[in-house]
Amino acid sequence: MDATPSGSRTTRRAFVKTAGALGVGLYLAGAGKERSVLAARGKKVALALDGGPKAVTAEVADATRWPLYGDEEIGLVTDLLRSPGYGPVAEFEEAWKAYHECPYVKAHCNGTSALTSMLFALELPPGSEVLVPDYSTWFPVVPMRFFDLVPVFVDVDPRTMNLSVEDCKKRVTSKTKAIMPVHWYGLPCEMDAICAFAEEHGLVVVEDASHAHGARVKGTLTGNWGRMAGFSLQMSKPLPSIEGGIANYKEQGDYERATAYGNYDLPRTFPEDSPYRKYQGTAFGSKLRMHPVSAILARIQLKELDARNAAGTAQIRRLNDRLLELPGLTEQYARPDIDRVYYANNPMFIDEKKAGMSRSVAVKALQAEGVSVSECTWTLLHTYPVFQEDKWWRHMPVLPEEGSVPGCDQVNRTAIHLPYWTSDQPELVEQYVAAFEKVWAHRKALGKA
Ligand SMILES: Cc1ncc(COP(=O)(O)O)c(C=O)c1O
Repeated sequence: MDATPSGSRTTRRAFVKTAGALGVGLYLAGAGKERSVLAARGKKVALALDGGPKAVTAEVADATRWPLYGDEEIGLVTDLLRSPGYGPVAEFEEAWKAYHECPYVKAHCNGTSALTSMLFALELPPGSEVLVPDYSTWFPVVPMRFFDLVPVFVDVDPRTMNLSVEDCKKRVTSKTKAIMPVHWYGLPCEMDAICAFAEEHGLVVVEDASHAHGARVKGTLTGNWGRMAGFSLQMSKPLPSIEGGIANYKEQGDYERATAYGNYDLPRTFPEDSPYRKYQGTAFGSKLRMHPVSAILARIQLKELDARNAAGTAQIRRLNDRLLELPGLTEQYARPDIDRVYYANNPMFIDEKKAGMSRSVAVKALQAEGVSVSECTWTLLHTYPVFQEDKWWRHMPVLPEEGSVPGCDQVNRTAIHLPYWTSDQPELVEQYVAAFEKVWAHRKALGKA
């Protein structure tokens, strides 16, 4: 594989083009005879853990390479360096707006800035509670302290790793004013259920869509369900601009308030009667503009987002559909009307009882076979000092009581991370399947370990 960025671009195009056809052939080959051969072979061949040959021998160095930029990005960034300016930011915003068919968008220097601006736009009374998943990242939650908002940590559904509406029902109070679903690792939340719950309780839906660019629920893009939505464009994400972020707004007032928060030079672009026009120049003390290099990268990457998501998801299916036949191995549950995406990881779960061996023993055996896999134990948000010390908050976060987030605990007992391959990897797919089948064939012995 060509290691240069332009070569990688060719590889990415080839991945997008050939992923479907090639995979189907291999899958069919693997689906019948080959799979039973692998399973039988798995029984005979010693585990790598016990000195047997490794199941995974393919070259993997470039398989997870990301982001993948090409000649177009390089050319446009070079042009920008010759003639510096902010033009690319507006160009990206227009392209993003068209993709989402969204009335208002604002690009930012990162996802945290986009989400922080959205929190400012909410303009909620001090002490207003916001429901957030406990199994998530702190980026949009810590800034709640700037606006006297109160994060309320909610359990996740262990099948999806996403916000549990059932648990939201238990934690909602008269002070709850907003809900922030996060589409974990590219699996959209069941937004119809969340929006129905929000409507019932008069809550604003603020999506954190940082993991799910281009994913859909019932045909509607993530980021188009909530009144506002923020996206990280950091370099690991499905739409990578190295560092960047963007927010979608359905309402002009939200857009103007959020934009005024971190853009001292944009209030003059608002209509004459906008209450935020007068803040031209001073804004509100933050400067959260996107860098034009990021804007170039994001705009060009956006052109292939759907094709790349489709190719990546198809490749995951070729691996996971075969792994899912092994007892005790599952993946994030996606309703049939949900079109998910992936980035960085392929999260799966091991049910130790059904697998007949512990997660850690299975992972060690798989690692010995050459599988890039790890146990995933996530630090739950409520346990971080910043949410526990009252000196950082005028209104303390609402922490879950001991044992009251069983979904998060279950995910932490069962989750494993497999890699997300960003180019065609038919050999790796076959070898990973062989490694899992081999380890599972030895699970009785491993269960006694
Ligand atoms: C779910 C989620 N939200 C928000 C962010 C913050 O985005 P950024 O790193 O671009 O500031 C991240 C970053 O990893 C994230 O994973």
